[in-house]
Amino acid sequence: GAPETGGPSSLGFKELSHQMAQRDAVAEGYEIQTLLRWGDPILPGAPAFDPARVTAESQRQQFGYNSDYLDFFPLPRGSRSGEHGLLAVNHEYTNTNLMFPGIGSGNAARLRTTEAQARAEIAAHGMAVVEIRKQNGQWSYVADSAMNRRITGETPMRVSGPAAGHARLQTNADPTGTRVLGTLNNCAGGNTPWGTVITCEENFNQYFGGDAAASGAQAAAYKRYGIVKDASYAWGRYEPRFDLDQEPNEPNRFGWIVEYDPYDPASVPVKRTALGRVKHEGCTHAVSADGRVVFYMGDDERFDYVYKFVTARAWNPNDAAANRDLLDDGTLYVAQLHDDGRVLWLPLVHGQGPLTEANGFANQGDVLVETRRAADLLKATPMDRPEDVETNPATGRVYVILTNNTNRRSEQVSKPNPRAANAHGHIVEIIPPGAGTDKVDHAATEAKWDIFLLAGKPGVDAGARYHRATSDQGWLSCPDNCAFDSKGRIWIATDGAPTAAGVADGLYAADTTGAGRALTRLFYQAPTGAEVCGPCFTPDDETIFLAIQHPGEDTGSTFENPSTRWPDFRPDMPPRPSVIAIVKKGGGKIGA
Ligand code: FEO
Ligand code: CA
Ligand code: CA
Ligand code: CA
Repeated sequence: GAPETGGPSSLGFKELSHQMAQRDAVAEGYEIQTLLRWGDPILPGAPAFDPARVTAESQRQQFGYNSDYLDFFPLPRGSRSGEHGLLAVNHEYTNTNLMFPGIGSGNAARLRTTEAQARAEIAAHGMAVVEIRKQNGQWSYVADSAMNRRITGETPMRVSGPAAGHARLQTNADPTGTRVLGTLNNCAGGNTPWGTVITCEENFNQYFGGDAAASGAQAAAYKRYGIVKDASYAWGRYEPRFDLDQEPNEPNRFGWIVEYDPYDPASVPVKRTALGRVKHEGCTHAVSADGRVVFYMGDDERFDYVYKFVTARAWNPNDAAANRDLLDDGTLYVAQLHDDGRVLWLPLVHGQGPLTEANGFANQGDVLVETRRAADLLKATPMDRPEDVETNPATGRVYVILTNNTNRRSEQVSKPNPRAANAHGHIVEIIPPGAGTDKVDHAATEAKWDIFLLAGKPGVDAGARYHRATSDQGWLSCPDNCAFDSKGRIWIATDGAPTAAGVADGLYAADTTGAGRALTRLFYQAPTGAEVCGPCFTPDDETIFLAIQHPGEDTGSTFENPSTRWPDFRPDMPPRPSVIAIVKKGGGKIGA
């Protein structure tokens, strides 16, 4: 049963019990408010959501599909409001089978996708910025705000940094290699000290069709990024840029970090190539002691790597213009974790070490387009699916969330990835010099690492390791994203627990220091089929926003017969990926 108190934990809520249910649940005394649903009209003149009429035209004006990263930008700008702000939201991908009546599921759905449906899917991707407000304890969005915005898979963007204009980014439609339409598969994200959004292109490989992946000039490079002959989506049949036979360079224009200003709906998003091209899960910053800004990033693939980017210059709090292109100039590093507890950050700089012409890197642009191969040559440490990488503001320790890796064989085990067939994942802490003081050197090329927890059910799953007081309900599986409250406690969202552990995905909280360190407690549990994404606190800690992604994504679910119709539970409504706000009934800080 769920204990009333958290033992030595500082968290003061009554823990939930694990479940697999169509309805989500939160700890007693808290309230779930559905804030934004797929299809909600957010631009002036947008049509109301009609599940029988999901078109590109409607989606461009409505809240998109499968939200992931969430971030809260207070209004007015520069304030610390916890009640009024802009919510920046990623729309990572679409579930064709749950979007369109009668299309079926799997490969059959892909083959049946019409041009109009493919274009609706492209428009349902990208991002949204929506003005939101809390009044009398209730969150709602401002449907007619002039600050609301949709960014889609066709929004014009600029490319900057060392790979901008590179021959491998040039296409028939864009011979300059500097202007791309859209951002895709935006998973987690981050922000900058100067108030912009960082959004991350993750599994961009699945959008490209055509035969070139099997035999073309870039076959090896495609393979390293998982670009295969039969893409998951039908887009390549209707849109030349998604057909590798027509535009073999188009995939090189995805897989980047994208920056934009959420406060300016007319701002042009910029793909910042200096931060590398991988399946970017997230990108979060920490300001180093000397004012340079460090961006930590995970490449979400089994046996892929952890990266950081260090700006060449310090950021300037008093001069917005000085920060505008800070992300174009700096050094990208990849992590090597040693069994003796050291982390070495290895620079991905053209001409250094093996990153030379002899190995096919003619310039820094080549190093960035093929970031993964460059990191392979540097012998970076293959990790168990690096997802979110975030810094605890209270301690300066950096948390690397590793979802799982069932492919790791026993001879591939090392201390930082200590389990073969790792079904439940783990969390590694990186400890930069000065962590625990107010002078943390995030820019340093050497750090230490430790293990925070090894997920799975204690006493059942080999090697599972938490605080010894962790309850029957407090263990977790498949950690994915995280957030920190202002006390420095970690809130961990999971992705994949239903398959790996037979419990719904959820949100768990734990102290990171003191007697309750790594004593995880279950706070929120998602509806079956959904993962929990984007945990994000308001500056006053009185609200946590969550993106509940892919409800109904269970094997065999279709539009007609989904496993859940969360959150509407109406027979005429499909499941709708939505953003929720969780508040304490009567007000107060989350977790207290
Ligand atoms: Fe989109 Fe790595 O999860
Ligand atoms: Ca996801
Ligand atoms: Ca994720
Ligand atoms: Ca994930």
